[in-house]
Amino acid sequence: MKDATAIRHAAKIIERGGIVAFPTETVYGLGADGYNPLAVARVFEVKRRPSFDPLILHVADPSDAGKLVKGIPSDAKKLIERFWPGPLTVVLLKEGNVPDIVTAGLPTIAIRMPNHPMALLLIKESKCPIAAPSANPFGYLSPTTAGHVREQLGDQVDLILDGGPCPVGVESTIVSFSEDKPRLLRPGGVSLEEIETIIGKVEINSIQDKPSAPGMLSRHYAPRTPIVLDWREESLDSYKGRRIGLLAFREPDPSLNFNHIEVLSKKGDLREAAASLFAAIRRLDALSLDLIFAETVPEIGLGRAIMDRLRRASGIISRS
Ligand code: TXA
Ligand code: MG
Repeated sequence: MKDATAIRHAAKIIERGGIVAFPTETVYGLGADGYNPLAVARVFEVKRRPSFDPLILHVADPSDAGKLVKGIPSDAKKLIERFWPGPLTVVLLKEGNVPDIVTAGLPTIAIRMPNHPMALLLIKESKCPIAAPSANPFGYLSPTTAGHVREQLGDQVDLILDGGPCPVGVESTIVSFSEDKPRLLRPGGVSLEEIETIIGKVEINSIQDKPSAPGMLSRHYAPRTPIVLDWREESLDSYKGRRIGLLAFREPDPSLNFNHIEVLSKKGDLREAAASLFAAIRRLDALSLDLIFAETVPEIGLGRAIMDRLRRASGIISRS
C-alpha cells in the first residue's frame, strides 16, 4: 500500500473508533480519536497502562491547541513557535470537552505537534486530535521502529503505519505551564539548554519528587535484562562466568571482553546516540544476557534525556 493510501485507511480506522500505531519523530505512538472515550479506553487496555497516567493529545497545527486549553501563557507560546512541529509537549490548563480518560481527570492537558509527515497527515485526515502514548506495553522501552511495535502489540492494534526508524529516538520533552513557573517534567528530544535560551530558567522536577508525569516513575522504560550503570573495568573480574553485554556510548576499547557490544555513536555524538538508544537496548535485551553494562554519557543537550532513560531502565532511581 502506498503511504497516502495507508494513511487514509488509518484515518478511517481512527474515525470509527479504532487504534493505530503511527510513527513520530520521537517514538511510535498508539493513537485513538482524542474525543472518543471508548477508543481511548482500548489504548489503555492494550498497553496495560494504569488509568491514572494521562495521554498526550497530538495536533496537526498550533492553532488546534488553542481550542483545547484555557489560554496559552506567553512563554508557552514562545516555545510552541520555536519548536512545533517537534519533540516538545506542553502541559496547559484544560478547557472544553476532551474526555477525562485522556487526561486522567486532571485539570491539565498535554499537547504536542509531532514533526513527522505521516503523523501530521494522519491527524489531519482523522479530523481530530489524536490521543497517543508510546506504542509499547506499560513500563517497557518505547518503540522506534514499526517492527518493535509489531513484536509487542502487533496482534492487538488495528493497523501499524510504517514510517521507518524514528529520527530523534527519545520521547518529547515535557514542560508544564500549569503553575506560576514553567517546569520540566521529562527531559526529551528538545534540550533544556535550547528551552532556557528562549524562556530563561525553568524549574526541574527532581527525580525524587513525587512524579507529576507518571512516565517519570522509576523503573520505567525497562528491559527484562538488568542494566548496570555504575560499573568499572576493574570490577569486571567479579562477574566472571556471567554473560554480559555492553551498551557503549562511543567506540569502546577493543580489549574489553563482552559477549556483545552495542555502540550508540562511534563518534560520541549525543543526537546519534539518542536515535539509536532504544533499538540498541532491545537488541541487547533479546540476547538473554545476565547483565547489561551501560556507559554514562555527558548530561548536556540530549545527554540529559539519555541518562534519564538509562537510570530508569536500570532502576537505580529509588522507587517513590
Ligand atoms: O514523544 C512522545 O512524547 C511520545 C510520542 C508518541 O508523541 N509519546 C509519549 O507518550 O511518550 P507517553 O504516554 O508514553 O508519555 C507521556 C507522558 C506520561 O509520562 C504522562 O504521565 C505525561 O506525559 N502526561 C500526560 N498528560 C499529562 C498532564 N496533563 N500532566 C502531566 N503529565 C502528563
Ligand atoms: Mg511511554
